[in-house]
Amino acid sequence: MARVVLEQVTKEYPGGVVAAADVNLDVADGEFVVLVGPSGCGKSTTLRMVAGLESITHGSVSIGGRIVNDIEPRDRDIAMVFQSYALYPHMSVRDNMAFGLKLRGMPRSEIATRVSDAAKVLGIGELLERKPRALSGGQRQRVALGRAIVRDPAVFLFDEPLSNLDAKMRVQMRTEISRLHHHLKATMIYVTHDQVEAMTMGQRIVVMEGGKVQQVDTPLNLYAKPVNRFVAGFIGSPAMNFLEGEIVQDGGLAFRSGNALVPLPEGWSPPRHDEPAVLGFRPEHVDLVSTGGFAAPVQVLEPLGNETLLYTEIGETPVTVRAPGMIEAAVDDQVHLTLRRDDIHLFDLATGAALTA
Ligand SMILES: Nc1ncnc2c1ncn2[C@@H]1O[C@H](COP(=O)(O)OP(=O)(O)OP(=O)(O)O)[C@@H](O)[C@H]1O
Ligand SMILES: [Mg+2]
Repeated sequence: MARVVLEQVTKEYPGGVVAAADVNLDVADGEFVVLVGPSGCGKSTTLRMVAGLESITHGSVSIGGRIVNDIEPRDRDIAMVFQSYALYPHMSVRDNMAFGLKLRGMPRSEIATRVSDAAKVLGIGELLERKPRALSGGQRQRVALGRAIVRDPAVFLFDEPLSNLDAKMRVQMRTEISRLHHHLKATMIYVTHDQVEAMTMGQRIVVMEGGKVQQVDTPLNLYAKPVNRFVAGFIGSPAMNFLEGEIVQDGGLAFRSGNALVPLPEGWSPPRHDEPAVLGFRPEHVDLVSTGGFAAPVQVLEPLGNETLLYTEIGETPVTVRAPGMIEAAVDDQVHLTLRRDDIHLFDLATGAALTA
């Protein structure tokens, strides 16, 4: 098992594309860290530099206290699981799992023990003699995991391993990988563009954008205390609402956005900030009230049973409200809304940085 440290790791591809810029990250021994961000933000590039599949332009990567910049992938004590399972089609599940160990010259009895142990952990004991084409997507993904597990590596690296599975299977494999982490207690770095996957699996999450790390934090801190507008908008679904405007004193404290005036809750202390700002609030942090608050027109209603999503607008900015259970409102009604004092975010309009009181 091993700690993984990235120091100012940068990757510049020929042609000047900086895919990762000054990435700093300290993954503790046995930790499960998720890299998340939109397509092209540099997640795979960062992971591949840890794996040794991509050269490092500058900065350093260390695994278990050893700088590995110039060490071959096969000597880094890592195992990688990709989106494409890359199983050998002509080999049985057993041989697919054993192949890497055979290449390394491991004794047959040791290989047999490892393969059967891993198969047991993954619940694929009955499939060992089958060929990959006779397996479902989820089963193939388990074989790919098994091939990594038998190696008993210090670090597991995953690059979107569940992307080819259907929604239900993804949820199932998500919990299986979390369980596997608990069981193996290995260091794991997991790449996904799916923020739900990140939030549910990661002990800590690295949010990336444009090759840069935006925030490294626990799931709950990312949700409650995003450091900037990008993180605030990326984490959480439906996404946080943003109104651009300014804080004004109009009877009480309010936020003016376009022609709308949103009263801010009593007792909320605004950060000192005289520039145009962005007010952020999550759909689940808006309350429907019978009177008072501010009025907004219902444009679309999505009753989901356990909750209702209500789409409205404030000063021409679309706003989503997430109300628990079913609500009594119809399209074109006016609803009255209030914000919660402890769940309001404010960002600088120009830089997007979070402003705190
Ligand atoms: N071999 C390459 N040569 C030049 N540019 C590359 C190369 N590989 C990746 N890039 C660029 O580097 C950036 C980061 O790519 P990367 O594959 O790391 O993104 P990603 O976050 O994994 O995205 P996705 O979610 O789509 O997999 C992108 O702009 C991409 O076009
Ligand atoms: Mg990728």
